[in-house]
Amino acid sequence: MEKKNIITIDGWSSCGKSTLARQLAEKLGYVYIDSGAMYRAITLYFMRNHVDWTNAGAVHNALENINMHFEFNNSSNRSEIYLNDENVEYVIRDLVIAEKVSEVSTIAEVRKFAVRQQQKMGQKANTVMDGRDIGTTVFPDADLKIFMTADIIIRIKRRFAELVEKNPNITIDEVRANLEMRDYIDSNREVSPLRKAEDAIVLDNSNLTIDEQLEFALKLAEERGLN
Ligand code: DC
Repeated sequence: MEKKNIITIDGWSSCGKSTLARQLAEKLGYVYIDSGAMYRAITLYFMRNHVDWTNAGAVHNALENINMHFEFNNSSNRSEIYLNDENVEYVIRDLVIAEKVSEVSTIAEVRKFAVRQQQKMGQKANTVMDGRDIGTTVFPDADLKIFMTADIIIRIKRRFAELVEKNPNITIDEVRANLEMRDYIDSNREVSPLRKAEDAIVLDNSNLTIDEQLEFALKLAEERGLN
């Protein structure tokens, strides 16, 4: 099989990875895969089915019953995630899931399960994938690696604006606590913690517009002949 082009975008929670990844994929005609959505869907399954994720056997059995795939939705213009054939793209964005997803993502067997599927997806099409360990673990030989970061205050404000639309009772302190907790767990876990790959290019978008960050990434893709 011909090797596909892979662009990885890793970074901290809520610094705009998915916005950039989606737009970049659209511009280049690549498939966009949101790896965080996979960890969120697994967390949703565990919560709904009362899986005790501190028990290795229970995790193993639960994973055997999980099927995930992405489908492009023409009306939302997004690739959306399905958990056992149910569209869960919107329920997984809830703060209830965000409270638990980092903990579930520390489990080695969960990571092995997700990484294997991500690697398979990347063999099928030219792909932009975002997450925490995509440039370090999932695709260490990617054609272009971007590591995104932004000021924590800016990230909190961005995520609050997103969540308050759906839940007007949410407070900025809840959002701050969640982001700080996820940043801590994601970068301190034993298995593939969030790290900048040595060959990744840093993109700090604290003071960039969405168009400017896209332009920055497109230029990098062009320089590498990925367009
Ligand atoms: O990108 P996101 O915020 O939707 O990701 C949700 C969580 O999933 C994140 O806090 C950690 C985990 N995650 C991970 O461990 N590895 C990835 N490649 C992507 C996400």
